[in-house]
Amino acid sequence: MCGIVGYIGEKQAAPILLDGLAKLEYRGYDSAGLAVYDEGKITVRRAVGKLVNLVEKTEEGRAVKGTLGIGHTRWATHGKPNEKNAHPHTGSRFSLVHNGIIENEAELRRRFLSDTEFASETDTEVIVRLMDKFTADGEAVDVAIMHLIDVLEGSYALAIIDSLDGEHMYAVKNKSPLLVGKGDGFNMIGSDAMAMIAHTEWFYEIHDKEFAVVSRDGVEIFTSYSQKVSREPYKAELDLSDISKGTYPHYTIKEIEEQPLVLRRIMQEYMDENGELSVPEEILADLRECDKIYIVACGTSYHAGIIGKHFFEKISGKPADSFVASEFVYNMPLLSEKPFFIFISQSGETADSRAVLVKIKQMGHKALTITNVKGSTLSREADHTLLLYAGPEIAVASTKAYSAQVAVLAILAAALKNNIGINLKYELALVANTIESLCGDKELFSRLAKEYIVPSRNCFYIGRGEDYYVCLEAALKLKEISYIQTEGFAAGELKHGTIALIEKDTPVVAIITQANTQLNTRSNVKEVLSRGAKVIRIAMKSVSSHGDQIVVGDVHEILSPLVSVVPAQYLAYYSALHLGCDIDKPRNLAKSVTVE
Ligand code: M6R
Repeated sequence: MCGIVGYIGEKQAAPILLDGLAKLEYRGYDSAGLAVYDEGKITVRRAVGKLVNLVEKTEEGRAVKGTLGIGHTRWATHGKPNEKNAHPHTGSRFSLVHNGIIENEAELRRRFLSDTEFASETDTEVIVRLMDKFTADGEAVDVAIMHLIDVLEGSYALAIIDSLDGEHMYAVKNKSPLLVGKGDGFNMIGSDAMAMIAHTEWFYEIHDKEFAVVSRDGVEIFTSYSQKVSREPYKAELDLSDISKGTYPHYTIKEIEEQPLVLRRIMQEYMDENGELSVPEEILADLRECDKIYIVACGTSYHAGIIGKHFFEKISGKPADSFVASEFVYNMPLLSEKPFFIFISQSGETADSRAVLVKIKQMGHKALTITNVKGSTLSREADHTLLLYAGPEIAVASTKAYSAQVAVLAILAAALKNNIGINLKYELALVANTIESLCGDKELFSRLAKEYIVPSRNCFYIGRGEDYYVCLEAALKLKEISYIQTEGFAAGELKHGTIALIEKDTPVVAIITQANTQLNTRSNVKEVLSRGAKVIRIAMKSVSSHGDQIVVGDVHEILSPLVSVVPAQYLAYYSALHLGCDIDKPRNLAKSVTVE
């Protein structure tokens, strides 16, 4: 995810910006840049690749003078990761950095900027050109920002500086994370508190469609219709012992919200800058040689495995099946002639899976482990390993490891085939951005959890195909952290028995992302509604209907599980929160299950 940092104060800005960008490196990026105001002039420096390149280019910031500036780490989505596409982007008057995606950039170019020559391929440049245009037409800067908020569609966190004004910088936000850090004699802007925590513990939240005018000794926040917002800063509860929880109250929500970063890190590890997949050839050779792929895992990892089976069959045309390890080990099905095994395990230590691995190795079969933990038992004992790069997953309920598993399986399935007709890098980047937008809908998820799920002792998830696979994971998430009995069902199966359990106010969550099955699932929704159920519908935009409470942005249908699972993770989190459960460490559960 792109990282933003801004500083206005008495000290030299560039070294502070570089330090803030270093704290944001974990988010994943492929270029970095900064813009600093000094004496009526903005100096911009940008560099492709690691931050160290920008550090060198600016002599650790010493070569760029000024006490007001903005910095950025960019993960390329619109346009290649090169210097001209790197942020900050500069027009004739303003410089700005942006995190998010402007959905109506083509329309904005046509409507306002048909005579403008663009220097980059980015959607961001449209924003800076609009600021130039609006102010050239006589609008004051704050009016131009309100105009901007009015016309921009999509997600954006912006930090803006003005070459005609050394006293202010501006923060503008919609659906992408952005905070203002409050200091003494200085103030800051950052994508998250970690970028600023070395300087201040006090932060202002900026809500969607608000903007902040930030000076050396003041922060003023306004709505998009110019109303001043009165909001107190909050103190980030960060102490060294739980620093990795950041500003989050629980690891669970932190890890849910890290999913876009994890996806971008995976892309960095398994794709080059042009989107070419890079999976070790020896793994692909074993996969090509086998006649069937057997995926073995437990719990959430098993749920990722079911989606993996689907990827191998749909994307690579290779027969595959997914099995629960504890069943497989004692009730092994008849194996094909040339089987190949894939073990999926966040921890790499799960005893049930290891028991299968030991057995199939004795039988002389080959195996790959997909795990988050380098050097773990399952990794050491298999022939090959692919890492998840999800970072430590501390909450017992797996969230980011699940998405990482699904993403790595998609990449592996795609790497098996020469041309899959999908630009996976683009599609996964879109998924990451779409998840990021969902992180802005927390109040909705909290309210729906409270209204629909929390009052009940049981709950059902229904869906078909990919949506059904997600329902299994969604149900596990809700039951394990909120203790509400929840089952995931193939929507069409309900009427073959389970519908007997539906009574007045039974919560049913329907997941609807697939064009070919959406009408069938909606019929099943009607069936439960007519028996008194309270239904939450999670739908993908292209197949959404009036009244669907949660609408997720469109992504490629085959990757929809990566997006549709996120509201379900939030619903589980907020149900557990409202019920006062021990969210990160649910009763009776361990993070790593090392006994059979
Ligand atoms: O470490 P593993 O992925 O092998 O663990 C498998 C399961 O124990 C794990 O996914 C478990 O189901 C989680 N609690 C789910 O949130």
